[in-house]
Amino acid sequence: MKPNKNYQNIAQSYLFSTIAKKVNEFSSKNPDKKIIKLGIGDVTLPLCEVVVKALKSASEEMGVKETFHGYGPEQGYEFLKEKIGQYYREHNVNLDNDEIFVSDGAKSDLGNILDLFDINNTVLVPDPVYPVYVDTNTMAGRKIIYINANADNNFLPLPDENIKADIIYLCSPNNPTGAVYNKEQLKQWVNYANHNQSIILFDSAYECFITDENLPRSIYEIDGAKTCAIEFCSFSKMAGFTGTRCGWTVVPKTLEFDTMNLNKMWLRRQTTKFNGVSYIIQKGAEAVFSPEGQKQIKENLDYYKENAKLISDVLTKHNIWHIGGKHSPYIWLKCPNNMKSWEFFDYLLENVQIVGTPGSGFGNNGEGYFRLTSFGSRENTKEAVERLDKFLG
Ligand code: MLT
Repeated sequence: MKPNKNYQNIAQSYLFSTIAKKVNEFSSKNPDKKIIKLGIGDVTLPLCEVVVKALKSASEEMGVKETFHGYGPEQGYEFLKEKIGQYYREHNVNLDNDEIFVSDGAKSDLGNILDLFDINNTVLVPDPVYPVYVDTNTMAGRKIIYINANADNNFLPLPDENIKADIIYLCSPNNPTGAVYNKEQLKQWVNYANHNQSIILFDSAYECFITDENLPRSIYEIDGAKTCAIEFCSFSKMAGFTGTRCGWTVVPKTLEFDTMNLNKMWLRRQTTKFNGVSYIIQKGAEAVFSPEGQKQIKENLDYYKENAKLISDVLTKHNIWHIGGKHSPYIWLKCPNNMKSWEFFDYLLENVQIVGTPGSGFGNNGEGYFRLTSFGSRENTKEAVERLDKFLG
């Protein structure tokens, strides 16, 4: 057996696992110190009431012969796809139910989708970026080229006709920077992709944080996107499903490349390699779209937005350059005193016991930057802000 040697080309452990290991080491040496974790983008508020009720009632159904469910449709139950379709219609995007595929979250599908593409495609990835795009393509042995996201372009790189790419990753609102593309900017990417017969893999996992209705929440709000884009979204950040697992992927039927239809290919892939998300979880996800569910998740999203404001305010007070936090749960800041990202990570952990994510973990252009999340509890966020205030002062 010859192992996949491409694994030699990725970092030994995934970014967030490396951070967790460092934090565990610190805490075992300093058991009396309270660590505040604003690193990985994991939610802290519990599932909302209406979701818990739906999960309970679906569990009850599973214990009764007449309402028990075995294997479900691999691409998701109609009841949930219908609600997701309705959610898109609210933003003037019309999708057929068979263009929506329910999944166990955006991360898995962002990796799995690569099954549809030839190994010789060139992949274009903004730098810095969510590490999954780079790692999954490196594991497969694909050639990756980078496009610079930096302070000069407000961390929103635009296409360059001199750079040819087949597969393009975009994430807006962006992880890690929190920057959001407007419609004109996204239109440039859509035009580029249609012109070059490339595919855009659009990660919209943070769309629920957008409050400005002029900003696009889906790439399909842009004319022409249905012939060049696949979209990935998730209930994780929207409704606190990070531990519950549910998301969806949109593969329009109009995606045709070299006579092959990506929607049909994805259906074939999913029916072969995936047995669907459990009935119970899909019932919980359906409840998110009820009027009561929408109200309850909005309260939670507002809570995280308020946390972001508290963090942003203390950084502003101390003249620390930062973006994000407005249409995103992430605040992207320049490390003070020209510190390097990991240096600042260690410095914060040792001095004020705050955990963030080093910007360099998201790519070379992230060096010297740092990401904080607003997903902590209010109590911990306030305490972190107080510690930062003293420390930065
Ligand atoms: C992050 O912190 O970047 C996210 O938690 C990653 C994810 O959603 O997988």
